[in-house]
Amino acid sequence: MKIGVLISGRGSNLAAIISAIQRDKIPAKISCVISNKASAKGLEIASNHKIPAIFIDPKGLSREEYDRLLVTELKDRGVELVCLAGFMRIISHYFVRSFPDRIMNIHPALLPSFTGLAAQKQALDYGVKVSGCTVHFVDEGCDTGPIILQKAVPILEDDTEESLSKRILTEEYKLYSEAISLFCQGRLKVEGRRVRIT
Ligand code: GRF
Repeated sequence: MKIGVLISGRGSNLAAIISAIQRDKIPAKISCVISNKASAKGLEIASNHKIPAIFIDPKGLSREEYDRLLVTELKDRGVELVCLAGFMRIISHYFVRSFPDRIMNIHPALLPSFTGLAAQKQALDYGVKVSGCTVHFVDEGCDTGPIILQKAVPILEDDTEESLSKRILTEEYKLYSEAISLFCQGRLKVEGRRVRIT
């Protein structure tokens, strides 16, 4: 199974996926890492592992023009699963339709709560006692696609956005690798909104 990973920054989920592949936890190969930011640390992580690290500049392009470049790059490399890992762009219908049920995302909250940016801060501001992370397939909405796996993380009395984000991130690494592995083994079946694990 060939995977393409899309990032915009730090790339710690990317590093966790690379590590899981190296430990034989995911039966796949990363064919490329693509970023919309030239300065993304994740590009260095990819290069250090000899994975093609590609910056595609969105400057002056419409959303769909940009996504056409992404899809061409991914298809040319034979990518079968696209993993968004901190990719800070809304993707177009064209992109979603080019990889139906083949784009995953990790979100740092228990969806459908706290979609969009700063999910950990949203959870703290709301006052929930439990948050967590969600891996889902990407559909044409924002953080609305069918849910693959979720993990709950408690919110502690003296949590800050930083401490909560850190505790959730530790779970993100495990959850994302598990979901990718299930996909690569052909064990995920999308039935409407439900994803069955077989
Ligand atoms: C993670 O918290 C992920 O859930 C969210 O963006 C962040 C990316 O972090 N979608 P990193 O670049 O993987 O370190």
